[in-house]
Amino acid sequence: MIIREIREDDAILFLDLQKTIEEETQFMLLESGERETAVAEKRKLIRAVLNRDNQTVFVVENNDGRLVGYLRALGGEYEKSRHTAYITMGVLQEFTGQGLGTRLLETLDEWAQHNGIHRLELIVMQPNKAAIGLYEKMGYEIEGTKRDSLFIDGVYVDEYYMGKLLPKS
Ligand SMILES: CC(C)(COP(=O)(O)OP(=O)(O)OC[C@H]1O[C@@H](n2cnc3c(N)ncnc32)[C@H](O)[C@@H]1OP(=O)(O)O)[C@@H](O)C(=O)NCCC(=O)NCCS
Repeated sequence: MIIREIREDDAILFLDLQKTIEEETQFMLLESGERETAVAEKRKLIRAVLNRDNQTVFVVENNDGRLVGYLRALGGEYEKSRHTAYITMGVLQEFTGQGLGTRLLETLDEWAQHNGIHRLELIVMQPNKAAIGLYEKMGYEIEGTKRDSLFIDGVYVDEYYMGKLLPKS
């Protein structure tokens, strides 16, 4: 397994990866079928991501060239927020529990320190114990609660804001 930055020609595989993860878990915001992005649009989005130095996507590539996990970091758009990055991530179910999430977040820390990012932040659903456990292990803290922010299978669910500060560069 290697972790590398995304390339424009990953568009099809990356779209498939996101759709599969969204089918497999209830813990991503988009549900299965809600992702309408076309491949051409995805290519454009990847190009846009790679054009800015405070955003990136890392992918985990299997030995057979398949993408099995990703982490996206979206840097703040404005001068006052460009030192922050909002992250989303996912690993295919059959590859979870093997340290890939940990490796993705370690790769992110290193990238962030070289790209002027001081604050990493995310939103996670309160019942997503595996993700919260992983984020806490990697130094993220719960900063607040979005009460009843989602409605899933007839039940209101809270989300947590989590964040981590890196040494100032
Ligand atoms: C959350 C996710 C990215 C974790 O990826 P992963 O590759 O399984 O993560 P790792 O194997 O590196 O980390 C496992 C860590 O999670 C934590 N963890 C796992 N299961 C846990 C549980 N039931 N309770 C508490 N912590 C748990 C532990 O800290 C563990 O670290 P350890 O093995 O050193 O003890 C993956 O499960 C996933 O993609 N889930 C579906 C999509 C999703 O929820 N994305 C995040 C949305 S915010």
